Amino acid sequence: RPGAQEWVPEGADVDALGEAAHRCRGCELWAPATQVVFSSGPDDADVVLVGEQPGDREDKEGEPFVGPAGRVLADALAAAGLDPERVYVTNAVKHFRFTERGKRRLHKTPDVAHIRACLPWLEAEVAAVGPRVVVAMGSTAARAVLGRTVRIGELRGKVLDPPGDAGAAHDAGAVVVTTHPSALLRLRDRRAEWDEAFAALVADLRAADAAR
Ligand code: URA
Ligand code: SF4
Repeated sequence: RPGAQEWVPEGADVDALGEAAHRCRGCELWAPATQVVFSSGPDDADVVLVGEQPGDREDKEGEPFVGPAGRVLADALAAAGLDPERVYVTNAVKHFRFTERGKRRLHKTPDVAHIRACLPWLEAEVAAVGPRVVVAMGSTAARAVLGRTVRIGELRGKVLDPPGDAGAAHDAGAVVVTTHPSALLRLRDRRAEWDEAFAALVADLRAADAAR
């Protein structure tokens, strides 16, 4: 299968996977990016959280969820009573996709081809960590984790069976889908909508925690 597979060491632990990912040329996204952004958190976590792709800050720092979306996620984890030190955090796509506007780099949603190309990494991470539950945040993550297109609004917060081989989470105990924390950033000036969206994200994270 094309994509990252040939760069993924077989049976490797998370450290070895993160090391090997620096050499990945599984799609074209590595070239304009600063570096690969792999994962953070313990490799024996019960809960794996999956985002879309690194953002501008993550690309520069080499760590997932260290920018504005990471702030929202940290607040939501705290509100849900999940210890941020006990969750493994990663992304569906490991390189930042962007377009340049003058000096700014604007986030560009990954294509299905990028999600597919990067899937072997996520699959190997789930196999190495062996979590009770994988939480897919947003539609890109949901597609990678479940291997199909899903309507987040219909499935969010439900404890789903692990997918078949097409989904990266086939080795997990269960899957929960929710919205992406960055979706909340657009609601920052609309207090009521923010509160509602934040509460819904927290409820989904609690459902995932209860499933572990
Ligand atoms: N958004 C994501 O999906 N992942 C990150 O690591 C940061 C922002
Ligand atoms: Fe490899 Fe994924 Fe980066 Fe593409 S985005 S080069 S598949 S690590």
